[in-house]
Amino acid sequence: MEKPRSNKRALARLQQLDTTRLWHPFTQMQDYSHNTPLIIERGQGSYLFDSDGKKYIDGVSSLWVTVHGHRKKQIDDAIIAQVGKICHSTLLGLSNVPAIELAEKLVAIVPKGLTKVFYSDSGSTAVEIALKIAYQYWQQLSRTTRKKKKFISLVNAYHGDTIGAVSLGGIDLFHEIYRPLLFKTFKAPSPYCYRCPYNKKQSSCGLHCLNFLEDILRTRHGETAAFIMEPLVQGAAGMIVFPKGYCSGARQLCARYNVLCIVDEVATGFGRTGRMFACEHENIRPDIMAIAKGITGGTLPLAATLATDEVYSAFLGDVHECKTFYHGHTYTGNPVACAAACANIDIFRKEKVLSRLQPKIRQLWCRLEELKIFKHVGQVRQCGFMVGIELVADRKTKKPYPAQERIGHRVILEARKHGVIIRPLGDVIVLMPPLAIREKELDKLCSVVFDAIRTVTEP
Ligand SMILES: Cc1ncc(COP(=O)(O)O)c(C=O)c1O
Repeated sequence: MEKPRSNKRALARLQQLDTTRLWHPFTQMQDYSHNTPLIIERGQGSYLFDSDGKKYIDGVSSLWVTVHGHRKKQIDDAIIAQVGKICHSTLLGLSNVPAIELAEKLVAIVPKGLTKVFYSDSGSTAVEIALKIAYQYWQQLSRTTRKKKKFISLVNAYHGDTIGAVSLGGIDLFHEIYRPLLFKTFKAPSPYCYRCPYNKKQSSCGLHCLNFLEDILRTRHGETAAFIMEPLVQGAAGMIVFPKGYCSGARQLCARYNVLCIVDEVATGFGRTGRMFACEHENIRPDIMAIAKGITGGTLPLAATLATDEVYSAFLGDVHECKTFYHGHTYTGNPVACAAACANIDIFRKEKVLSRLQPKIRQLWCRLEELKIFKHVGQVRQCGFMVGIELVADRKTKKPYPAQERIGHRVILEARKHGVIIRPLGDVIVLMPPLAIREKELDKLCSVVFDAIRTVTEP
């Protein structure tokens, strides 16, 4: 049906304002403003609807956050109920009901030993807080540990966009320009087996790259506060899935060399990998953990940093000893966001989300097998509901496409024409559907994306 003229005018106005007033994240605005922007107006289940009423499968869960689909009634209801009581009250010196309830729920689902919850509002701040806690912990633990001020992170790591998080980052495209502003970190190799820097085979390497992490720990542990990793999958680097044993091996090394282990579960948490947290796959108990993204089921900004009793107790003392953790954001522990997160966690249990997810993970795995015969699919990486499809110019040599060809970008535009919204990481096509996606929708998502890859790479 033809849209009324007034609607067309309203849309044109929004599109014009979008390109002239908004500065979009991770977006080259010169390029963006030359195209007609797609404006999302509403969502329902696994679908997004644009302001023209066109329907799309949300293939990346609105940047990896939507868990139970859009407009999940129980979460919406929890938000509305909390709005009816109070929208915000500070956690600085006061408390609020949903923040308390959520802390208890979080402690019950995270790896054992993480008993203290510190709230913030994004993955970046959760990581920033983890860094500051780790640093201050050693400063306050004893005189002899005060030299432990440095951090070890992985090549290809992404931990967010604030300066501390960028200091840990290992993606040159995003991070290199800021290098003069950043604190120095030790970088251990990324277990990126498809492009192994040591030319080893995953089946026989014996986790060779862990030796390099151990070298750093052996020589630098006296000056190192913590090691940080995205457990199991380096997300923003292109869904690099770690070989089995890497994470537990790294965790054991941290314990051996008396260095805190921070896990950044911002992307992997809340069911993404098939378990509630990626740490569970290898039974890892970190000292500090950062979570965000799926925490509110994709409704409101919220994050948390969790720590062990041991870490927490280094911050206790008489007020005049100045051991307080002097950190806190205005919206820390926002009651509406915490109420949404409580509802989100309850749904996992009530609707048996994780057990119902397992057949869909297998379905996805079966569909991904089809890509084996695609001429320009270099590697397909899957960990639960996190998928990266690496496109290459030459499968034999693994030669990447020239950046200016923007292959990944072209694939997502092609998929968009057919009712699927995804977002690539360079030339890695990412699939991260809501955990609640229906089998039929998952099939359609795969079919559209695979066709788009073919259309663009094998014209
Ligand atoms: C592993 C990881 N850590 C931290 C962040 C930063 O989270 P935010 O964008 O909420 O600041 C991200 C975002 O993608 C992430 O994937």
